[in-house]
Amino acid sequence: MMKTFYIETYGCQMNVVDSEIVASILIRNGLIQTYNPQDADIILLNTCSIRENAEMRIKSRIKQLGSFKKTNPNLRLGIIGCMAENLKEKLFVELPQLDLLAGPDVYRLLPEILKQINDENKIINTTLSKEETYADVLPFRYDSNGISAYVSIMRGCDNFCSYCVVPYTRGRERSRDASSIINEVLSLSENGFKEITLLGQNVNSYHYRDIDFPALISLLAKNFPNLLFRFTTSHPKDLSIELIEAMASFPNIAKSIHLPVQSGSNEVLKRMNRKYTRDDYLEKVYLLRRLIPDITISTDIICGFCGETEEDHLQTIDLMKEVNYFFAFMFKYNERPNTLAAKKYADDVTDDIKSRRLKEIIDLQQKISYMLNKQDIGKIFKVLVEGISKKNEKEIFGRNSQNKVIVFAGDLTQKGQFVDVEVTNCTSATLIGRQNFDK
Ligand code: SAH
Ligand code: SF4
Ligand code: F3S
Repeated sequence: MMKTFYIETYGCQMNVVDSEIVASILIRNGLIQTYNPQDADIILLNTCSIRENAEMRIKSRIKQLGSFKKTNPNLRLGIIGCMAENLKEKLFVELPQLDLLAGPDVYRLLPEILKQINDENKIINTTLSKEETYADVLPFRYDSNGISAYVSIMRGCDNFCSYCVVPYTRGRERSRDASSIINEVLSLSENGFKEITLLGQNVNSYHYRDIDFPALISLLAKNFPNLLFRFTTSHPKDLSIELIEAMASFPNIAKSIHLPVQSGSNEVLKRMNRKYTRDDYLEKVYLLRRLIPDITISTDIICGFCGETEEDHLQTIDLMKEVNYFFAFMFKYNERPNTLAAKKYADDVTDDIKSRRLKEIIDLQQKISYMLNKQDIGKIFKVLVEGISKKNEKEIFGRNSQNKVIVFAGDLTQKGQFVDVEVTNCTSATLIGRQNFDK
């Protein structure tokens, strides 16, 4: 009998691609994918360890799914990805329902591993690799809209920001063979995809033989003029002038960049081991705005990091006003066991203060987003239509090059097309527009 598997994905976009890679490997080995956990012989949660609440959610989900074993005693339950790597055997003790733990670099072995599991034999493999990039595995994009695809171009992270688990859960940085990236993009293009997001924890440090990231994205932009290219995440220290120039010169490289700053205070940045100062960061922002005047910038901010004073917090607020991010992910600092910060610094900002500071930056960001969106009213943008609006079935939505979501009247016949839309109104999160305007 053919076995069925079900995957649920948590965490960042890298995990979305990894789940597609796992699906591809399992299907190639004769398993059948199901989208209902109740029909599955194998349930895999592809997991995230970035903050404790991510791990808590996954643990309670495992307890819930474990109850399916009562009706299906042959069900196998696995945690794969960052949390397996981060917590290892401890998870078997805490969650006896689990049969399998597999880290992010052993997915090729999953078909073999799954055969070896039985009632007496749980399996753990969290070996990290210096080479694995799954370059030859074409992801099975089971959850895709057929228009936008993620393409993973590098894995791992060597930056060791002091608060972060990723260098431990994903291992060392390694870049994928450029020709395999080009082949994957070619196949996506032939299959009707319109927008490609190049992914890595630190895409700017991509380096394969003599091809660096500006060279790679320029090559792709030149060879696929009908595709729109995005990329994430850029570490500020590795954002080069060559990349900014490439963004400025190719109309099909999106005019938007995610540039996580984390804090506006030099002392905090230093303890975070971010390897840039506030001024280094702002200089790159000014350069981006000078060479690409219509660019939008988004960011990640952590508030309440070890030793963060009120003055440090005000510096973050001040920097947010200086940069005018169109969007930001904002978090309270959450100490992660075994990271440099956990070993070296006390998590000494109280939860009340963290919450208050977080609220202040969220409120500010909302005001800035609204102000920037209002400035777009009256402008006309090319929008790649992604689908029907969630709120109103007579409306469709898409994103412009600046990565802003625009909702407007239309129907699905336009899905996958680039259409001109005039912005007529907005909220802090969305632009509202129309297609039939006087040109
Ligand atoms: N590689 C990316 C992002 C990785 S994780 C980068 O370097 O920017 C995404 C975001 O989670 C980080 O940018 C950071 O803002 C946040 N984050 C990571 N570790 C955290 C922690 N221990 N507590 C709170 N937020 C954290
Ligand atoms: Fe974590 Fe820093 Fe690496 Fe991003 S660059 S994944 S924040 S260690
Ligand atoms: Fe989470 Fe791992 Fe991504 S820890 S953010 S899933 S790299």
